[in-house]
Amino acid sequence: MTRLTDTPDRFGPITRFLHWGMALLFAAQFLSAAAHWALPRENAIRETLWSYQYTLGTTLFLIVLLRGAWGLANLPHRPAHSGRVGQAAVAGHAALYALMIIVPATRLLAAAGSDRGFSYLGLQIFAPHETEIAWMQAPSELHGELGWVLALLVLGHIAMAVIWHRLIQRDGTLQRMAG
Ligand code: HEM
Repeated sequence: MTRLTDTPDRFGPITRFLHWGMALLFAAQFLSAAAHWALPRENAIRETLWSYQYTLGTTLFLIVLLRGAWGLANLPHRPAHSGRVGQAAVAGHAALYALMIIVPATRLLAAAGSDRGFSYLGLQIFAPHETEIAWMQAPSELHGELGWVLALLVLGHIAMAVIWHRLIQRDGTLQRMAG
């Protein structure tokens, strides 16, 4: 029977499913953000892509928490990182996780303190306040900028996996996640 958890030789099917599912969803989220940034306000493609920014962003926030918990539970028996490059990889992954949580959290905090309230998949999560709570809005001023920093980190992550691990070192790292 296939083992669901990670082992020192390879990532298990749940880790791989979460990893590639998140990759796909983050690509869609960055596409929505890029269209918002690059296209004029009344553009129909911009509107369509923007229409899922809140829902997909919230979904990603929940999946990241799930993935983080699953990663921590698997930490003692997943493929290890060694040497300087390994330490840099651990630091890079920690930064990725931190931003994957902070970026959506800044906007969700703003929604929690807003005068409009916030619904997710038709369910009211935050009721509207009579007036906006200023300190809850403040971190969201950095949401867009931090989102782009996250996009750059993701690009770096892909470059390391493909160029360093696959083409230069040929150490099987990418295959362990590809399955
Ligand atoms: C991991 C999840 C998310 C990522 C990667 C992300 C990324 C981004 C990026 C890069 C921008 C800048 C677009 C531009 O320059 O025009 C942006 C803007 C925005 N996002 Fe997100 N976002 C996420 C989650 C969310 C969530 C959960 C919400 C709402 C609940 C949200 C609401 C907004 C809004 C209103 C803007 C436009 C105003 C601003 O830049 O702050 N986003 N997002």
